[in-house]
Amino acid sequence: MSLVHETDYGTPRVTADKTVTLTIDGRPVAVPEGTSIMRAAMEMGTQIPKLCATDMLDAFGSCRLCLVEIEGRPGTPASCTTPVADGMAVRTQTERLKRLRKGVMELYISDHPLDCLTCSANGDCELQDMAGAVGLRDVRYGYDGAKHPDPGKDESNPYFTYDPSKCIVCSRCVRACEEVQGTFALTIAGRGFGSVVSPGMEETFLGSECVSCGACVQACPTATLNEKSVIEIGTPEHSVVTTCAYCGVGCTFKAEMRGDEVVRMVPYKDGKANRGHSCVKGRFAWGYTTHRERILTPMIRAKVTDPWREVSWEEAIAYAASEFKRIQAAYGRGSVGGITSSRCTNEETFLVQKLVRAGFGNNNVDTCARVCHSPTGYGLSQTFGTSAGTQDFDSVEQTDVVVLIGANPTDAHPVFASRLKKRLREGAKLIVIDPRAIDLVRTPHVAAAHHLALLPGTNVAVLTALAHVIVTEGLANEDFVRERCDWDAFQEWASFVALEHNSPEAVAKVSGVPAQTIREAARLYATGGNGAIYYGLGVTEHSQGSTTVMAIANLAMATGNIGRPGVGVNPLRGQNNVQGSCDMGSFPHELSGYRHISGDATRELFESLWGVTLEKEPGLRIPNMLDAAVDGTFKGLYVQGEDILQSDPDTKHVAAGLAAMECVIVQDLFLNETANYAHVFLPGSTFLEKDGTFTNAERRIQRVRKVMEPRNGYADWEITLLLGRAMGFDMAYAHPSEIMDEIARLTPTFAGVSYAKLDELGSVQWPCNEKAPEGTPVMHIDAFVRGKGRFIITEYIPTDERTGPRFPLLLTTGRILSQYNVGAQTRRTDNVVWHGEDRLEIHPHDAEQRGVRDGDWVKLASRAGETTLRALVTERVAPGVVYTTFHHPDTQANVVTTDFSDWATNCPEYKVTAVQISPSNGPTGWQEHYNEHARLSRRIVPLEAAE
Ligand code: SF4
Ligand code: SF4
Ligand code: SF4
Ligand code: FES
Repeated sequence: MSLVHETDYGTPRVTADKTVTLTIDGRPVAVPEGTSIMRAAMEMGTQIPKLCATDMLDAFGSCRLCLVEIEGRPGTPASCTTPVADGMAVRTQTERLKRLRKGVMELYISDHPLDCLTCSANGDCELQDMAGAVGLRDVRYGYDGAKHPDPGKDESNPYFTYDPSKCIVCSRCVRACEEVQGTFALTIAGRGFGSVVSPGMEETFLGSECVSCGACVQACPTATLNEKSVIEIGTPEHSVVTTCAYCGVGCTFKAEMRGDEVVRMVPYKDGKANRGHSCVKGRFAWGYTTHRERILTPMIRAKVTDPWREVSWEEAIAYAASEFKRIQAAYGRGSVGGITSSRCTNEETFLVQKLVRAGFGNNNVDTCARVCHSPTGYGLSQTFGTSAGTQDFDSVEQTDVVVLIGANPTDAHPVFASRLKKRLREGAKLIVIDPRAIDLVRTPHVAAAHHLALLPGTNVAVLTALAHVIVTEGLANEDFVRERCDWDAFQEWASFVALEHNSPEAVAKVSGVPAQTIREAARLYATGGNGAIYYGLGVTEHSQGSTTVMAIANLAMATGNIGRPGVGVNPLRGQNNVQGSCDMGSFPHELSGYRHISGDATRELFESLWGVTLEKEPGLRIPNMLDAAVDGTFKGLYVQGEDILQSDPDTKHVAAGLAAMECVIVQDLFLNETANYAHVFLPGSTFLEKDGTFTNAERRIQRVRKVMEPRNGYADWEITLLLGRAMGFDMAYAHPSEIMDEIARLTPTFAGVSYAKLDELGSVQWPCNEKAPEGTPVMHIDAFVRGKGRFIITEYIPTDERTGPRFPLLLTTGRILSQYNVGAQTRRTDNVVWHGEDRLEIHPHDAEQRGVRDGDWVKLASRAGETTLRALVTERVAPGVVYTTFHHPDTQANVVTTDFSDWATNCPEYKVTAVQISPSNGPTGWQEHYNEHARLSRRIVPLEAAE
């Protein structure tokens, strides 16, 4: 295996209708109009020396190394900034050019430390390469002259260093931070020879606005900005292309390795979701894979108060299987179930649901998507006919108006946020609908046209008021609706939204959003050109989550913003494989491809392939499993890669449910919070240790490739096979590609998917079948999947969770950039420097009323429970609203969230909890009780001692 090398064409690809033909060094080449001479030369295999140019960035023209001669033109223009022209004759190698380039390189090298042999970038340095390319053998000026300023190394960032002594002031880093990342954290301070790169006003990288995305490090042609892991381990010698295991953007990376060790993760330019960009999690936060707390040996125990006993894989699997068989014999076939994970691969998820349905013999399988995007599945299938977003990420490049609802992409979907910011800097307009002033409301060079800072829980009212304006002001696209949608349903809906109680003036009273703002936002979305709606968990995690999704779909249909690039309805998925875990039949009522279990033909298809009879009735959802456990009828749970105790609402109820079970099998990387109530712990594998596929928020199926052997001994899919076999249900696969072949046989939308195709095309977006052999970037182009688009009445029903004298504030929850979900992975990386604890954001007015100062401990209490954390006093939240993240188990933010949930899907109402805040001295009694239980339940008797 060798390093995967991606060609750097020097300047970005240009798309144009017209093709231009020219000659370069006597050879003809045809390229799109607007292409640079440098890129045209690269495309025909001629490399022109360069330093300040790279194809991720617009040409800058500062280093003067890429000079060329053009017949009939005076001078030696820079090839990176000069576009091609018809009939142009370019020469890239003449004696004059060689002399000039050598002279330029001499100046660079005379100001550069000559420590190549011990430099961390030795062998991976463009300056070194270019010195060789121009044939530099001597420097006439010597090396002892004045050097540019060297303010000293900055090692403050945990993942990369900045060594200004090696800087050639090419500005690639500054431009990468602006153009690719959109953060504008870097500047060139000083002038001329005194120029130096600076993060902010003489700050360190850590103390600056830098979000540690790594774009500058990747752009830097020298060792000035360099990964600490490269300095420590050395330059990589082989690489494997794989997919990030964090969020639903699904960035493609090259895992660059030295032996079995990951040296760095480098974003892949050919990755269709990320186009060569990354965020701090995927780029740097992979250290958890080798963290000392990772469990690598299986463990069992009879009672959750016993210490764990390390055992062999054989013993653990035999014990787990015998317990499940015993439970089923004693309490019935339906007394056990399984939970699949949106962190695991499609193949692993498919296997767990297969094991439950065909091996356990019931449909008690659910997924963590239950608690995030299940309303998306329901809402979009009701209106459009399919349970997924409609676009690819490239679509944002053709959007004119972006409506962002209940999503905070700069924290939760950072690479998509960078692409969105770029489009906004190009002139697209933004409407933010969110209780908090998220970063995108105002960030460098981007400001939202409207921020609808609604009260948590009033999404449906505000979206219906937007529809009211569109209908009553005649802004609906009737031609589109007549042609593509159910006209009767539209008329019924239009009459409903036009009712007075849905007017902006009426809705302003419940939502707190001024009527005029609602009106202006509606007009902008309906008339501003291509309108695209992006949304997140601030839409779905409500008692009216499914209604909100349908209200969004209604808006898109009413304005004709569906079925072409630049428009659409786009759920931003939280975890890497939320889309995939839903697609794979993880819900109790659906087989893969969203086909109801009660459908005889569908069931028969699976039955004949699997050789079993399947239950016709849907099984239990996660909350039903926990309720049934408390009631004494549900006794055994197999949880793969999911920490329900920390991530599900109403922690005390989850703990009671788990405590009532007789056998809980947890398969995970670490002893998570759920494992405190488990009897069998099966060590899981990381994404680096297995083959498979993830499906991102765009429905894009991408390969996960094994870069090292599983440190625990087995990939997760193999563990499920072992468990099935021990229970008497043999599933025989030699490789995950065979599981995908079975998925393709059983699932019409995946019929054309195979590992061979994924390897050939890089990725495909489902549906991928005979009709769309290379996948479907944009859905519903000529017709909706369900035929006619269906408008659905969205009556606003306030949640039962109300504020009152005891609980006068509304709590809403969310994520932060550096941490990921329950933090099991990111808390075990250096990302903790940015977020060491969850804080409670509270408006200065509410804080003052309660005598709370910034940094004080506060008690956060709801009718479900109470916890403590420290306050962050900020105007980011409106008066009456408080906000926190849930990345740290110590905080136990979900102790206070309630059991209210979406009416259609049971997705918990995380985003609205009535709470009170009061000063506190530290952790509550429940936290202390829980922490003591956690401490006791994590004792381990090692294998040697146990033997
Ligand atoms: S790491 Fe990213 S955000 Fe930080 S300075 Fe570099 S490009 Fe900018
Ligand atoms: S730090 Fe690197 S990319 Fe930035 S100006 Fe210096 S050499 Fe160029
Ligand atoms: S944006 Fe998401 S998928 Fe991309 S690197 Fe970050 S966490 Fe990974
Ligand atoms: S590469 Fe063209 S001027 Fe630097």
